[in-house]
Amino acid sequence: MKIELNNLSHEYDVEVLHNLNFDLSKYKSIGIIGVSGSGKSTLIRLMSGIEKPTSGEIIINGMNVANEAHKKRVGFVFQNHNLFPHLSLKKNITLVLEKTRDKSKEEANKTAEKYLNLLHLSDQMDKLPKNVSGGQAQRASIARALSINPEIVFLDEPTASLDPILTHEVLTAVEELRDLGKEFVFVTHVLSFVHDFADYVIYMYQGKIWEHGLPSMLDNPKTHELKEFMRKVR
Ligand SMILES: Nc1ncnc2c1ncn2[C@@H]1O[C@H](COP(=O)(O)OP(=O)(O)OP(=O)(O)O)[C@@H](O)[C@H]1O
Ligand SMILES: [Mg+2]
Repeated sequence: MKIELNNLSHEYDVEVLHNLNFDLSKYKSIGIIGVSGSGKSTLIRLMSGIEKPTSGEIIINGMNVANEAHKKRVGFVFQNHNLFPHLSLKKNITLVLEKTRDKSKEEANKTAEKYLNLLHLSDQMDKLPKNVSGGQAQRASIARALSINPEIVFLDEPTASLDPILTHEVLTAVEELRDLGKEFVFVTHVLSFVHDFADYVIYMYQGKIWEHGLPSMLDNPKTHELKEFMRKVR
């Protein structure tokens, strides 16, 4: 995927991303790491188009993310699964397909079943989110993000609310998606997952891209800040 950040800044009450300039091509799975508050979620939300930057621009695969058409090519998985609580796992997906993608009921059903199967949820799909495990709910939300057949899937700490076993279960399911031909941008605290799944890594520190490179950079940090980060998370 090709990512261009040009003079990208973002502020809420204060500025939290500071004039990022960044250019990347060819990698397919990009992991973003960094301490809490460093701007990871802000950056991924801006890249997905969910939020608009205060200034600057983001161009992904040749298209400015401010373009309406960008919305159609991305899927987003949130930290907490974000499923509609009153709908079954399957209905959570068919609703999106029928309402936002103009799919017929049959097509929506078929697509929902396909992705729920892919995430190993065929026997859970008629349950409400509250009646499945956190890992299953999170996998359903990944199935929902995939069901719209996005070009790029954004995942913002999809396992933040899960225990280590469910974390492993969800991340293994994500790793199995490698061959779908999609591009991934994800935020995680699980470094083994970065090693296994990312082909490029961005380390954020205080609202800046502090260091970036191949996953092997984690074994050989250049900056004091990444060194400290690695020492603390290991
Ligand atoms: N909606 C908001 N309103 C005001 N400030 C915000 C908002 N969202 C984030 N911030 C601030 O922006 C900065 C970056 O936050 P961000 O959520 O991007 O960090 P993060 O790296 O994702 O952290 P975490 O690992 O805790 O999720 C923080 O100082 C945060 O307090
Ligand atoms: Mg965050």
